[in-house]
Amino acid sequence: MDVFKAIETRRSIRKYEDRRIPEDLARKILEAGRLAPSAANRQPWAAIVVRDPEMKKSIAVACNDCEYIAGCDIFIVCIGDPQDKWYQIDAAIALEHMVLTAWENGIGSCYFGYYNEEHLKSLVHAPPDMKVVACLALGYPAESPAARPRKSFDDLVYREKYSHRG
Ligand SMILES: Cc1cc2nc3c(=O)[nH]c(=O)nc-3n(C[C@H](O)[C@H](O)[C@H](O)COP(=O)(O)O)c2cc1C
Repeated sequence: MDVFKAIETRRSIRKYEDRRIPEDLARKILEAGRLAPSAANRQPWAAIVVRDPEMKKSIAVACNDCEYIAGCDIFIVCIGDPQDKWYQIDAAIALEHMVLTAWENGIGSCYFGYYNEEHLKSLVHAPPDMKVVACLALGYPAESPAARPRKSFDDLVYREKYSHRG
């Protein structure tokens, strides 16, 4: 699958098969994040990879009782250093590298941003001076959602000036 095909066909997946992602594939997905670009190559983020079923259940509680978290195979809590101006963007780029590499290899994912940050940080022993940027659930898809709508090209793309659409 080429990159654009992965971008075009990817969907957020919230239902997962009870099937383990092989270690080498899990490693490849994380490696895609490690290779992502970052401002001045500072890489001010870390991925805490959670696979333990009891941990995922606890995390689901910290994530406002989100049901699908306990059902995913891997839950990544991505933390970043807020002292770095670009930490959220750098972490987001790394996560999206992981998302597309996962999809290319048959693994579904869903970002998660609706958590109690202090509770989540305490569960994964995140340093107090780090922030949770976003989370990512990963697993073999057990659903095939339709594409969600997007704004039109002309709503998003402007030529030379904001007054020149499309
Ligand atoms: C930063 C971010 C946070 C998100 N947080 C959540 C979330 O907390 N819960 C959830 O179910 N989906 C979450 N999503 C997934 C979006 O709802 C989803 O990407 C969007 O509806 C478009 O659907 P698609 O990914 O299938 O194209 C999040 C996505 C992003 C990029």
